[in-house]
Amino acid sequence: MVRIVITGATGQLGSELQMLLRNVGEKECFFLDRKQLPLDQIHLIQDILAMYQPDLIIHAGAYTAVDKAESEPEMANLVNHVASEEIAQYCRIHGAKLIAISTDYVFDGTSAVPLAEDAPTAPINVYGQTKLAGEQAIQKWCPEAIIIRTSWVYSAYGNNFVKTMCRLMAQRDEINVIDDQVGSPTYAKDLAVAILKIADAADWKSGIYHYSNEGKISWYDFAVAIRDFRSFDCQVKPIPSTAYPTAAQRPKYSLLDKTKIKSTFDVAVPNWKLSLTNMLAAYLSAEDE
Ligand SMILES: NC(=O)c1ccc[n+]([C@@H]2O[C@H](COP(=O)([O-])OP(=O)(O)OC[C@H]3O[C@@H](n4cnc5c(N)ncnc54)[C@H](OP(=O)(O)O)[C@@H]3O)[C@@H](O)[C@H]2O)c1
Repeated sequence: MVRIVITGATGQLGSELQMLLRNVGEKECFFLDRKQLPLDQIHLIQDILAMYQPDLIIHAGAYTAVDKAESEPEMANLVNHVASEEIAQYCRIHGAKLIAISTDYVFDGTSAVPLAEDAPTAPINVYGQTKLAGEQAIQKWCPEAIIIRTSWVYSAYGNNFVKTMCRLMAQRDEINVIDDQVGSPTYAKDLAVAILKIADAADWKSGIYHYSNEGKISWYDFAVAIRDFRSFDCQVKPIPSTAYPTAAQRPKYSLLDKTKIKSTFDVAVPNWKLSLTNMLAAYLSAEDE
């Protein structure tokens, strides 16, 4: 039976993986949360992983507080870079496979065309720098690893833009949302389905891959779609990023080119609007229970 360790088990992606892997007979899965695998306790990581003897590690855990990372660069680096390096070393030593998740924030946002995997990286915030350092360490120690960069992740689990919008729109008559950052959101469930298809693929093809939902939108477009789906009586006003200063700078253009992951693994990449509909339906039915 294949033994799989999933890091970041309580996060958005970790939670979606848990739901999909429930009752899957032929896999023995170990979902490790912060207590079971503290990614900032580097000296413990190898020994903890050895207890589970995984054939595959899906590394979904990360320091994802993008603004806070600006004032906690050491912690962000420890979790996103050094812990990823340690996990890659474990995989190298023990011959385990590794699928690690990275981010569109490794790019600076100046591209005018969808970003392919070999587009030049140049992160403009601490989170992006630490995730890129993590990617590079993984590739150095475990060249057989698969790294999947994704963007604007949301889910019925955890905190994210969609859930924040639903909460604010229920309370307010008007809301301002940035319209000069474009990309594509990613429903974590779609990403989880893609990861499991890749894990099950007959051919393991190492390297970096891009995955998000299909389509190109701004945060403003995303907010309007959420408002319309939920029929909130709330006006959504477009504003420039300059009117909403944050500790971390964000790339203006984050659209990932998904050609490689589709042609290599034949994974589904649903349109963002369909996925938003699916997520909101799952979220609302969970709220009703
Ligand atoms: N969220 C996005 O918009 C986005 C965009 C692009 C790429 N990504 C990448 O996608 C992957 C999955 O992200 P996500 O959205 O699922 O993130 P998430 O919901 O923030 O989950 C991150 C997970 O990492 C865990 N974690 C953080 N610090 C830890 C530590 N010191 N020790 C152990 N566990 C720790 C968290 O534990 P707690 O629950 O206990 O905090 C949580 O389970 C990550 O690699 C992320 O960098 C995310």
